[in-house]
Formats: sequence, C-alpha cells, structure tokens
Amino acid sequence: MTLRVAIVGGGPAGIYAADLLTKSETDVSVDIIERLPVPFGLVRYGVAPDHPRIKEIVKALQRVLAKPEVRFLGNVEYGVDVKLEDLREFYDAVVVATGAMSDRALGIPGEDLPGSFGAADFVSWYDAHPDVPRTWPLEAEHVAVLGVGNVALDVARVLAKKAEEMLATDIPANVHEGLLTKRATDVHVFARRGPAYAKFSPLELRELAHSPNVDVIVHPEGFEVDEASMAHVAANKQAKMVLNTLSNWVGREPTGKAHRIHLHFLEQPVEILGDDGVTGLRTERTSLVGDGSVAGTGEITDWDVQAVYRAVGYRSTSLPGLPFDDRVAVIPNDGGRVLDLDGESIPGTYVTGWIKRGPVGLIGHTKSDAAETVAHLVAETTATATERDPGAVNAYFAERGVDVVEFANWERLDQHEITLGEVAGRARVKVGDREEMLRVAHAG
Ligand SMILES: Cc1cc2nc3c(=O)[nH]c(=O)nc-3n(C[C@H](O)[C@H](O)[C@H](O)COP(=O)(O)OP(=O)(O)OC[C@H]3O[C@@H](n4cnc5c(N)ncnc54)[C@H](O)[C@@H]3O)c2cc1C
Ligand SMILES: NC(=O)c1ccc[n+]([C@@H]2O[C@H](COP(=O)([O-])OP(=O)(O)OC[C@H]3O[C@@H](n4cnc5c(N)ncnc54)[C@H](OP(=O)(O)O)[C@@H]3O)[C@@H](O)[C@H]2O)c1
Repeated sequence: MTLRVAIVGGGPAGIYAADLLTKSETDVSVDIIERLPVPFGLVRYGVAPDHPRIKEIVKALQRVLAKPEVRFLGNVEYGVDVKLEDLREFYDAVVVATGAMSDRALGIPGEDLPGSFGAADFVSWYDAHPDVPRTWPLEAEHVAVLGVGNVALDVARVLAKKAEEMLATDIPANVHEGLLTKRATDVHVFARRGPAYAKFSPLELRELAHSPNVDVIVHPEGFEVDEASMAHVAANKQAKMVLNTLSNWVGREPTGKAHRIHLHFLEQPVEILGDDGVTGLRTERTSLVGDGSVAGTGEITDWDVQAVYRAVGYRSTSLPGLPFDDRVAVIPNDGGRVLDLDGESIPGTYVTGWIKRGPVGLIGHTKSDAAETVAHLVAETTATATERDPGAVNAYFAERGVDVVEFANWERLDQHEITLGEVAGRARVKVGDREEMLRVAHAG
C-alpha cells in the first residue's frame, strides 16, 4: 500500500521532509501544498539577495521536487483552499511546515508609528514577495535597527550598501529603483546585551566590513565583557569568533566612506518617539548582571533617527483546525507529533521546521528537524495506510476553481526568471507580481 502524505508548506523544512519520506523504506507519495505560486519559503523570501551562495541550496531542493513520488501543488492555501478534514480524506498523514513570516512584537510605545518597520516586512519587500507592496519609503538619513541577530545584519547591510552593489543580485526593477531612492547615511544597530551575546554568525558579521562604501563602527561605550561573558564564549565557538571580530573593530575610526553602520551594545530600546511618524528612538543603558542577562540603569539616550527597523525575531501564525501555543508561537508537539490541548498526540498529524520549534536556526537545521518528524510518521502511519486515489485532490481543487501551480508550471516560471537574468547579465531576475507569476507559470 502506498502511504500518501500531504506536506503543508513548501519551504526547506517541508521539502526536506518530502526527501526523507522518499528515502524511507515505505512506499510513499507526497504532495507539497504551498500558498505561494513558488516553492522554497524563506530561502527565496528571507535569504538576502546579496547572498547568492546560500540561495544555491534551491538546486538541491528543486531535485527533491522533481522526484516522481513528489508533487508540488502551489498557489493553494491551507485554511482557505483546503482544510484539515479535506486533507484527512485524501492523505494518510499530514505534515505541517508553514514556517514563520511575521515579526514578533517588541511591546514598546511608538512601535506602530509610521516609520517603525518590522524587519520581516522589509525583507519581504527587498526579496520581492508577491504579497507585499511594491514600494518602500527609504528617505530616512539616520536609521535604527533593533536586535543583533543575522536578520538585523541583513537589514543593516541592505540599508547601508549602495543600490549599485545590489544590482548584481536577483532583485527585480522595482526593488532596485526603490533602493536608488535610499538616503540612509548612518545605520545604528542596538543590542540590549553585551557583545558576547550577539547572535550574529561570524562570517556574516565579517562580511559587514566588505562593502567599499560602508564603515563599520563599534562604539566603546557599552562594549563590556564580564566573567559570565567569558564563560559564555568559552562554551560557544561562534560567539567567541564574533566577540573576537567585534573586539578588533571596537573604537576603530571611520575611514571616510559615505555610509556608516554603528554597533551599540548595552542599549535597550524603550520607546520609539514621534507623533505622526518616527522622529527618534529612546534607549536605556543596561548593565551586565553576571548571568548573561542585563538590568536597566535608568540612563536614557534619545537618538535622532527617522526610521526604526525592528529585527527582534520572526513569529509563526496559528492555522485553522490545529492547536497553537500562543506563548511561544509554535504548534505543540512531541518530537514532531502534534499534541492536542490535553497533551495527547493527534493521529496522522505532524509538524516540522520553524512552526515546530520556533523561528531560530539555519536552513540546514530544518533537515535534522525533518528527520525526527519523518521517523515518527513512517513508524506510526505505514501500517494503517489505505487505498487512495491520487487524482482525487486535483479534482477537488479543479471543482473549486483553485488555480494550482504544479511543478511543471513552476519550472516554466523558474526558466522565465533565469532568462530575464541572462538578458540583464545576472543569474536570475525575480518576478514579484502574483498575477504575472501565475500568467508565466500557466503560459504555453
Ligand atoms: C530574513 C531571513 C534570512 C535568512 N537567511 C538565512 C541564511 O542566509 N542562511 C540560512 O541557513 N538560514 C537563513 N535563514 C533561516 C532559514 O530561512 C530558516 O531556517 C528556514 O527557512 C525555515 O524553514 P521552514 O520551512 O520551517 O519555513 P519557511 O522557510 O518559512 O517556509 C514555510 C513555507 O510555508 C508556506 N506556508 C505558510 N502558510 C501556509 C498555508 N497556510 N498554506 C500553505 N503554505 C503555507 C510559506 O509560504 C512558506 O513557503 C533566514 C531567515 C530569515 C528570516
Ligand atoms: N545569513 C544567515 O545565516 C542568516 C540570515 C538571517 C537569519 N538567519 C537565521 O534565522 C534565525 C532568525 O534570525 P533573527 O535575527 O530573526 O533572530 P535571532 O537570532 O533570535 O536574533 C534576535 C535578536 O533580537 C534581540 N531581541 C529580542 N527581543 C528583544 C527586545 N525586546 N529588545 C531588544 N532586542 C531584542 C535578541 O536579543 P537577545 O539575545 O538579548 O534576546 C537578538 O539579538 C536565526 O537562527 C538566524 O541565524 C541566518
């Protein structure tokens, strides 16, 4: 009997799960249901355009989609076009891999002012996500970025770099035109803790200094390393490399480049200032308390910035028919088995990727996630698989007028973007308009 599995979400977590299912000893057929007309999730709509090497991962993911046991059903939204009870009719098991697309709230006054932006929204804009507006206001000369994770680095780098430096990437014309209007000269990045606790990756941090147009300035005020910091870096190789780089940079004078990225440590954002729009950021100096956390000192600084980008983490959203732990924004699970409100596992229902364990970790981590989930799924559902018609789900979508983008349609759009790139001397130029994406996908 063929085990039929629906994977909801065509990001890396979902695609790795499909791959592992096809490599299991069970005879499987897998459908990947994705709300966008394209696969790859945050690899396409999160990874920064000036990181083409990382985007190469799509080649391996594409090979999974091309497998005969796997079907891609794009432009189908779970909860809108299909519900859990429908999936139960067509499949023996369901794996939820819907990731995270929104910004976590910061919870300070002024957060909702015009000019206070969530990093996720800005990232979606520069990565040409089809569901966001095509323009972005970039007139601020002094900008704050809150948080010191890799997303903060991406945002600071894109804000500080010259538009021409981004032109070799896969950005479409509207993003390049938008970046040309950018007026930012100074980008201030704020960490509430000390430099030992920055969550940057060492390589990504060092890359910040590679732009010929950007000086990186690490401010000495707040650059404090206590015993707990030393113990932390001793136990964490990445943090040690980051601290070494920051220590080499601290106090270095700017060399006169047109743009500057300032890194400030031990400054906690307390309010985004302004009436009708952002006119400043208020921070409170913190001090290390000896266990990795910080306490406010009461010393307040107002920073003259006209835009604030909040890069304090992504957040997953709940899905109809499935439990959700609102506190940590994940689907409650035990090693990938979805748990109901009583903590009992829901038969045939699994979860993987960021919606399983929260919005932290690299693309590669979603592979180990998927391995755990798939191992449980195969062990628990193979014996109860029943005879099902793989065409029934297609008939269901056709009856409801859902404009499904299958793998061959995606290949057409993919080739179209590559051809646009060849004309422009680039590897690819993305299509960012949903109508246009669907038109190209279904052409011919
Ligand atoms: C800005 C940013 C940059 C990053 N850069 C890097 C990097 O350079 N290197 C690296 O290793 N990692 C990077 N990461 C981390 C990496 O992107 C994640 O680890 C990974 O994408 C998580 O995979 P996922 O499949 O769980 O979620 P996602 O990639 O978010 O995929 C989820 C998919 O589910 C779909 N979906 C959501 N809801 C529904 C629904 N209702 N119905 C159907 N489909 C749905 C979404 O459209 C999406 O395609 C970055 C993350 C961010 C936020
Ligand atoms: N190139 C890459 O490899 C790449 C690029 C982008 C993203 N990613 C990965 O994607 C994942 C998500 O990245 P991320 O940057 O969104 O998350 P992250 O690594 O968790 O960083 C979030 C940052 O926000 C700070 N923060 C949280 N709440 C705050 C608050 N209330 N006030 C001030 N600061 C606050 C955190 O500080 P505290 O530590 O003090 O909580 C931390 O510095 C990470 O695993 C990241 O490595 C990788």
